[in-house]
Amino acid sequence: MRAPYQLRNVLVREEGEGPLVVLVHGYPLDGDMWEEVSRRLASRFRVLRPDLPSRRDTPHPMQPTMAEYARWIAAVIEAAGGKAGVAGFSMGGYVLFELLRQKPQMVTAAAFVDTQAGPDTPEGREARNRSLATAREMGPTAVSEAMIPRLLSKQGRSDPALVGRVRAMVRRQNPNSLENDVLAMRDRADSIPSLPSIAAASLVVVGSEDAITPPEKAESIARAIPGAKLVRIEGAGHLSPMERPEEVATALGELFSKPAG
Ligand code: MLT
Repeated sequence: MRAPYQLRNVLVREEGEGPLVVLVHGYPLDGDMWEEVSRRLASRFRVLRPDLPSRRDTPHPMQPTMAEYARWIAAVIEAAGGKAGVAGFSMGGYVLFELLRQKPQMVTAAAFVDTQAGPDTPEGREARNRSLATAREMGPTAVSEAMIPRLLSKQGRSDPALVGRVRAMVRRQNPNSLENDVLAMRDRADSIPSLPSIAAASLVVVGSEDAITPPEKAESIARAIPGAKLVRIEGAGHLSPMERPEEVATALGELFSKPAG
């Protein structure tokens, strides 16, 4: 891997040569969640794994909205050549829906990984407010203990090395970024109406044991985007890119190798 670089004070990791691929991480994580997938894709693609702003010690003043996060990913793509295949995991998928509304011409192919298109329900917004309180009052350690059982499948939770990597990643996050993410997710737009107009070749990936964005959510995205393909990873939980990187990389590699239509 080449040395990570900073764009507007935010960390971007890069490896490989070939068509540009950008992997957008979820909450409460950072670009390292894609490490194993990226390593596999890097034999054929130039892969960027940007952090979203304000992770760890890379503060960046911004409004905590998905639209602003998407403008940041657009800036990363612009600086790297202007067009990319983009995969968004969970919150990264919410960012990708925004990017497709803002700059559809930038996205040569789109992968929605363990995500959903609808907005939060009123009960979901209440749960976000409780998560905000946890992040503010108790910090990243409490967030990691609350999230790990939901991020990983039963099998994933029985792998101490995997649990240790996820725990360390959540715990090193800047409390500010956790709050920003929760606000951005709570107030995100409904992306269901825009699904039929997505013209980029699209893939939807979901772990069969995803407890946060279960398979029905993925199936409804795949039904609504014209020509979208659905890949279900049996036994994987929400964090399928870390639990089953081989299968996720294979599905993404196939999508991103297709000539742009
Ligand atoms: C994520 O994995 O990015 C979040 O858990 C998604 C969410 O809470 O809506």
